[in-house]
Amino acid sequence: MAHGHHSSAGPEGYDTHNAPIMGPFVAELLDAVDLGPGAVVLDLACGTGFAARAAAPLVGPTGRVFGADIDADMIRVARDRHPRLYPDIEFTVAPADHLPYDTAAFDAVVCQQGVQFFPDLAAPLTETARVTRPGGRFAATVWAPVDRQPYFLAQQRAVQRYGGPDAARYFTRAFTTTAEQLTTALDTAGYRDTAHREVTFGITLPPLDEYAHAHLSALWGGLLREAGGEEALSRAADLVRDELATHLAADGTTTLPFTAVLVTATR
Ligand SMILES: C[S@@+](CC[C@H](N)C(=O)[O-])C[C@H]1O[C@@H](n2cnc3c(N)ncnc32)[C@H](O)[C@@H]1O
Repeated sequence: MAHGHHSSAGPEGYDTHNAPIMGPFVAELLDAVDLGPGAVVLDLACGTGFAARAAAPLVGPTGRVFGADIDADMIRVARDRHPRLYPDIEFTVAPADHLPYDTAAFDAVVCQQGVQFFPDLAAPLTETARVTRPGGRFAATVWAPVDRQPYFLAQQRAVQRYGGPDAARYFTRAFTTTAEQLTTALDTAGYRDTAHREVTFGITLPPLDEYAHAHLSALWGGLLREAGGEEALSRAADLVRDELATHLAADGTTTLPFTAVLVTATR
């Protein structure tokens, strides 16, 4: 349950409806680990594989891309939806603290919006350090505090009001890992040159009339329906739309700031 999607619509919906928000951050994440042709890279807690997919053309036919996630449903969609460009991306079900790869196997490890959901940071980061070659790179993103992100704030209010205490707790988890926690854990795990900075994109979301409901349903549909059926889900979507009404453009889209903390380190 603590894995980042909570819905019967499941990981297909996660992939489709999260793409507008996750997409822009992937380029920054991959840029931070200096991928070039021939590089071997791991997308950790890859979910449906946004970062892995974007890494494939950067490493080219002589490189290799791997993805690992604890959630078998996410991995199933990752396998279904990845492009057959070069050697196939190898997606594997595995927990971050027990990775089925050789020591020093990777030139780079990236993790987009995953570390917040790990039970702790020490064991997974010691494990990523093990599978990274000396001099290899690490980059991760976590969301900045929710109160600076109008879309997530509206979603949080909706999930808190209509989703029950579990939903509220899981939602908050995505926003609670700080740059300091992550850099300290990386230092302890044996990384050097740890650094962090904020990355903000103004992201245009699809028309909110449909998107507010579709996105909530994909991520929080399970818990919202459990708490109050379809009614809870539609009321929650209405709340998101109402909260953001002043941001609506004439065509129904909204352009809003999203901020992630990008943490980088060298092995
Ligand atoms: C918000 S999703 C992010 C997925 C993907 N990186 C992306 O950019 O969309 C968080 C992911 O972390 C995974 N996850 C949570 N705990 C994990 C663990 N201990 N080991 C591996 N993956 C984990 C979840 O299954 C989920 O796919």
